[in-house]
Amino acid sequence: MKRVEDDIAYTLISQQEIYDKVHEVGRKISEDFEGKEPVFVGVLKGCFMFMADLIRCVNISSEIEFMAVSSYSGTNSTGAVRINKDLKGDINGRHIILIEDILDSGVTLNYLKNYLMVREPASVSIVTLLDKPARRKAPIYADYFCFDVPDEFVVGYGLDYNEKYRNLPYIGVLKPEIYS
Ligand code: IMP
Ligand code: MG
Repeated sequence: MKRVEDDIAYTLISQQEIYDKVHEVGRKISEDFEGKEPVFVGVLKGCFMFMADLIRCVNISSEIEFMAVSSYSGTNSTGAVRINKDLKGDINGRHIILIEDILDSGVTLNYLKNYLMVREPASVSIVTLLDKPARRKAPIYADYFCFDVPDEFVVGYGLDYNEKYRNLPYIGVLKPEIYS
């Protein structure tokens, strides 16, 4: 039987480390957005596990929406961003909190942020589970992030390689032979 862990070289961030950090960030967001009724906008599919855990650590009144974009195939960004699922409701005057799995080149979130700003929300903030600053190309930063990661291709806790490994419950580094 092939298991999801078979292709993982090593654990980069454990379940316990994720749990602790997500609670910390959830508490911070609850304080910062108290009384603002923010709209959490998850960027599918990578956000799903992180978002589910994070919003359970947020105790203020808020709403949940999703967007879907594609910009990536394999381990290299194509640089092009396409909106596959957009927001339906009006976001004019609302506080938007974008939730992503990883901020890599920044091309995706830079595009999304500018795309949403046109609709004149009160603010657009970015929350990302992982930040890979070494690879940044676009002028964008995370308002909240859980972990800095080195320039290695990581999977698990929502992050995929060719749609697999999303169900790994921690963040791991793939064995190089898997993607070479
Ligand atoms: P960016 O536009 O280069 O910042 O990349 C955005 C998307 O690329 C993320 O939402 C991920 O889906 C994907 N991505 C970037 N780096 C990794 C990685 O190390 N593992 C898995 N997916 C990644
Ligand atoms: Mg993604």
